Amino acid sequence: MRTIIEPFKIRAVEPIRMSTPERRRTTLEEAGWNLFRVPADEVTIDLLTDSGTSAMSAAQWAGIMIGDESYAGSRSFFRFEATIASITGYPHVIPVHQGRAGERLLFSALCRPGQIVFGNTHFDTTRANLEALGVEAVDLPCPAALDTGSNDPFKGNLDVAALEQRLSEIERGRCPFVLVTVTNNSLGGQPVSLANLRATRALCNRLGIPLLLDAARFAENAYLIKLREPGEDRNSARAIARAMFSLADGCLVSAKKDGFGNMGGFVAVRDAALAAQLRTSLVLTEGFPTYGGLAGRDLEALAIGLDEVLDEDYLKYRTASTAYVGRALLERDVPIVCPPGGHAIYVDAARLLPHIPPLALPGQALACELFIYGGIRACELGTLMFGRRAPGGTEYPAPRELVRLAIPRRVYTQSHMDYVVEALGDVASERHKLRGMRIVEQPPLLRHFTARLEPLS
Ligand code: F0G
Repeated sequence: MRTIIEPFKIRAVEPIRMSTPERRRTTLEEAGWNLFRVPADEVTIDLLTDSGTSAMSAAQWAGIMIGDESYAGSRSFFRFEATIASITGYPHVIPVHQGRAGERLLFSALCRPGQIVFGNTHFDTTRANLEALGVEAVDLPCPAALDTGSNDPFKGNLDVAALEQRLSEIERGRCPFVLVTVTNNSLGGQPVSLANLRATRALCNRLGIPLLLDAARFAENAYLIKLREPGEDRNSARAIARAMFSLADGCLVSAKKDGFGNMGGFVAVRDAALAAQLRTSLVLTEGFPTYGGLAGRDLEALAIGLDEVLDEDYLKYRTASTAYVGRALLERDVPIVCPPGGHAIYVDAARLLPHIPPLALPGQALACELFIYGGIRACELGTLMFGRRAPGGTEYPAPRELVRLAIPRRVYTQSHMDYVVEALGDVASERHKLRGMRIVEQPPLLRHFTARLEPLS
């Protein structure tokens, strides 16, 4: 059979609000043309993020009921710990309430001001947590990643030659670790190959630098390796995930993505002394080491989710359904980051709307029009999010103008995604009508969350 079906059936449903373009325009005006300010009830298909938005399985809901809420030594923690140790091979597992709490915990233990961390591309909270400690976060994506149209299978890779060069220019000890994000969320959800991880590991070994993974989407990365890396098709996603983790010294994971969790995360490491240090800080702000800011029921549901995500029927459907959306958009001449990765489709708004200059926010113009036309909420990853405003008020554009359609796990069906493709295709066919936007009010930091904007006349 050629049709790849959703490998689940739906037993609990949540109604979707149907509305009209007129109503949505009013909503958007009231929200200052910022989709983060739009009430979720006004959204028909919500593709703002794949984080914390997964549908849990019947087994996970059953786990919620049997979660052990003991303060110390919770049975649910031991299940969580054993599951993660078996997936990663790391003996020390520290639960946290979400990914960025793990970032703060681990980076505070490992970094000193003035250091530099190199990575394939840091996620925004990862970068912000490093910068908050006075550490410079440097992105070294492979050159193929910079051409959105190219079909290179591993555009998430780190540029190992550039890393070697940069490390040779700084004194020993200045780089506390190298951080590889799998999949590379900021650059299109693209996977990192085992070959690239091996090369990075070899360089880190030579220079005595630890290698860490930001592994929020580890299962999708493992399955894309199975599909794309020569010789890996005979290995299971679980074995490939284990091989990925075996090449690093530890990981930071937001379990709100491939953990199928609505909340949660963890840090896992090999080094017992580091783990002891992390547990000491954990008690201060997150909680006792056997719950770390999570309820026992969350630990139970996450343990089940982290196992379920490695089911290959699921991963086959997940990657095939994302690729299906990508193909359908390309057929409608919508330029996207190729080839599609696991969790999202990224539209290249700079190529779609060349008549709107970067400082007039083409990505935001597209995201707003998609909301008005189809009730679809996407997320701009362009100059609104990553552009810089100099002290005098001069604006600098971001290197790319992307709009991310993140696909929540097990939430939308194929007909929902057909609707998204149709809406975006219609908007794209009238692209010349779209106008740019300007920011009328913005905070000094992370402006995309709260800024108010208006369309240019
Ligand atoms: N690392 C990566 C690669 C991420 O994508 C995220 C979150 C985090 C770390 C932080 O995890 O949200 O649990 O604190 N990404 C979300 C997104 C927010 O929409 O891509 P968190």
